[in-house]
Amino acid sequence: MLITWRGHSCFEIEEGDRTFVIDPFLDGSDVSVQGLDPDVVLVTHGHGDHVGAAAEFDAPVVAIPEVAHALEKEGCDTVDMNIGGTVSFGDVAVHMTMAMHSSSTGGYERYGGMPAGYVVEGETGSVYHAGDTSLFVDMRETIARMLQPDVALLPIGDHYTMGPESSAVAAEWLGVDVAVPMHFDTFPPVEQDPAEFVNLLPDTVEGVVLESGETLRYGEA
Ligand code: NI
Ligand code: MN
Repeated sequence: MLITWRGHSCFEIEEGDRTFVIDPFLDGSDVSVQGLDPDVVLVTHGHGDHVGAAAEFDAPVVAIPEVAHALEKEGCDTVDMNIGGTVSFGDVAVHMTMAMHSSSTGGYERYGGMPAGYVVEGETGSVYHAGDTSLFVDMRETIARMLQPDVALLPIGDHYTMGPESSAVAAEWLGVDVAVPMHFDTFPPVEQDPAEFVNLLPDTVEGVVLESGETLRYGEA
């Protein structure tokens, strides 16, 4: 499994013969989705810094029904699913998980359904993208227990999501081998030192701070 950070909460996941892009976002800086060619786009929730570039690609967009409906009106092909469900793309299973946040479409005009996270599970490993969320106990009781992810992509920016301390607890609860910080430094309210997050992790979890465009290889990919 290859996991490439594209800035903010955007990751490219290559597993088997498929490429997934989660939370594509263009802000005009080094946060870039240029050159990506996903087979499937996954959107965690309707806020602009997660759904902003979803319509840029010739690929189906997976989202909660309220967000999928809004994207369909923009001309996207969509796959709607909901929390607790699994949809398979070839040999790769996409599980939608809960998140503790808010969601809207049309800016903040319309209700966007529940926010979500994803576990993308293939033969070489599985990765949990938490979306925007606070710490919540179902990370331990449901996501870790039922889906057993190997790698966690966790927001550390604070202000709108978990900060470093909560995210380090999340990594411990999830029982992952590797934790990667996201959703920091993009805007002034979410400025954080990712090294602080890495220092707070338990010994059982390796913290990996990716540069934008850098790839983490997990398992036999
Ligand atoms: Ni958000
Ligand atoms: Mn966000």
